[in-house]
Amino acid sequence: MSKNAKRPAAPVAKKFAAYPRLNPFGIGKNISAADLIDQAFLAYNGGRLREAAKLLAEKMLPDDGCIGMSLTGALTPAGLGKSCLIPLMKAGFVDWIVSTGANLYHDLHYGLNMELYAGSPFLDDVVLHKDGVIRIYDVLFDYNVLLDTDAFVREVIQGPEFQRPMGTDEFHFLLGKYVSERGRALKLKDSSVLATAYECGIPIFTSSPGDSSIGMNVAAMALRDSKLLFDVNRDVNQTAGIVYDAKSSGLKSSVFILGGGSPKNFMLQTEPQIQEVMGIQEKGHDYFLQCTDARPDTGGLSGATPAEAVSWGKIDPNTLPDCVVAYVDSTISLPLLTAYSLARVRPRKQKRLYDRRDAILEKVRAQYLKTGTVDKIKTSRKVAKRSSGVALNKTLDRDR
Ligand SMILES: NC(=O)c1ccc[n+]([C@@H]2O[C@H](COP(=O)([O-])OP(=O)(O)OC[C@H]3O[C@@H](n4cnc5c(N)ncnc54)[C@H](O)[C@@H]3O)[C@@H](O)[C@H]2O)c1
Repeated sequence: MSKNAKRPAAPVAKKFAAYPRLNPFGIGKNISAADLIDQAFLAYNGGRLREAAKLLAEKMLPDDGCIGMSLTGALTPAGLGKSCLIPLMKAGFVDWIVSTGANLYHDLHYGLNMELYAGSPFLDDVVLHKDGVIRIYDVLFDYNVLLDTDAFVREVIQGPEFQRPMGTDEFHFLLGKYVSERGRALKLKDSSVLATAYECGIPIFTSSPGDSSIGMNVAAMALRDSKLLFDVNRDVNQTAGIVYDAKSSGLKSSVFILGGGSPKNFMLQTEPQIQEVMGIQEKGHDYFLQCTDARPDTGGLSGATPAEAVSWGKIDPNTLPDCVVAYVDSTISLPLLTAYSLARVRPRKQKRLYDRRDAILEKVRAQYLKTGTVDKIKTSRKVAKRSSGVALNKTLDRDR
């Protein structure tokens, strides 16, 4: 065949063998959310959301896989705590959580039976301010909701069990106990993420304990005589411990990321903490599912892709093809993913990781004390012979 002659077209079946044909059904009036996703979410971010749903149901949840969920964006004010997070937690589909303080603070409004309203994003905020109305985009509530929630936090943390430094998982567990008690007294059912986490033994961490109204009230009480402090070192080691405990027990570790922000990194950094800092051999989280609006091209962590996370050791390169980012607002994706997973996967036994928190920390500590060093960690990863830092030269500048 001459160089310029046309090649015969490859048989269609072979060329597209790896790809299912796009040939959707018409949507019927009784279709379930799960079937809608499988049958009509075929391309673009709809396609990514279908892949995310299948990843969750077919890879992350089976075989008792350990699932960490990170929460950013104003999810609980929009009611997603009650509608989605609590059902997922009760079904055993979430094993540990990293949240912004804001999501936990606004969860308290629901846990204390306060009223939030579906408003509009197009209201006059000067008038709202005069009327004592707070607005989160189109969610509205009275200023008293903030003042009463603040007072609840201050009253609770006066208790003797709060008068010491503690990890944020322990703090949220203790706080959740009070919200759960108050909920029972108010005859509420499944109204608070914090209370549900307490009841299900699900550890909840926050990566920026000072950056929310909960942290603000804790800080103000420290100006009185409160001894409550957040032990962020314990949080970093405890979260790494959760991942190490899962992986060293032969379980898959997955991250389910809503939004991005600091909770996303706090959840992902568990792997570099294990490998790069503690010197323990590990490959990275197995599965990565993110729903976000954050773009990758700004270099910010919120939009960083699972591929980029592979280079940091955060994600196992072998499972990268399974990882999914859906560029979808969480207020749309989370209800759909919740409905899909509840329809397709049977409830799992609660792992109750909180109940084993000391043992989990001790396990990673014992391994770290075997493998970790103060000087440069010896790694099995391929790195350049002569690496980067001037500060790593044996002769420090001050000695020259
Ligand atoms: N009253 C309070 O306590 C209060 C209120 C608001 C914020 N904060 C604090 O401010 C900090 C920032 O919190 P934040 O939650 O606003 O995070 P953020 O604005 O930093 O968002 C994090 C990431 O999630 C993405 N994101 C946000 N909403 C999304 C959605 N609906 N769908 C998809 N992606 C979405 C954003 O684009 C961003 O990339 C936190 O530390 C929080 O505790 C406190």
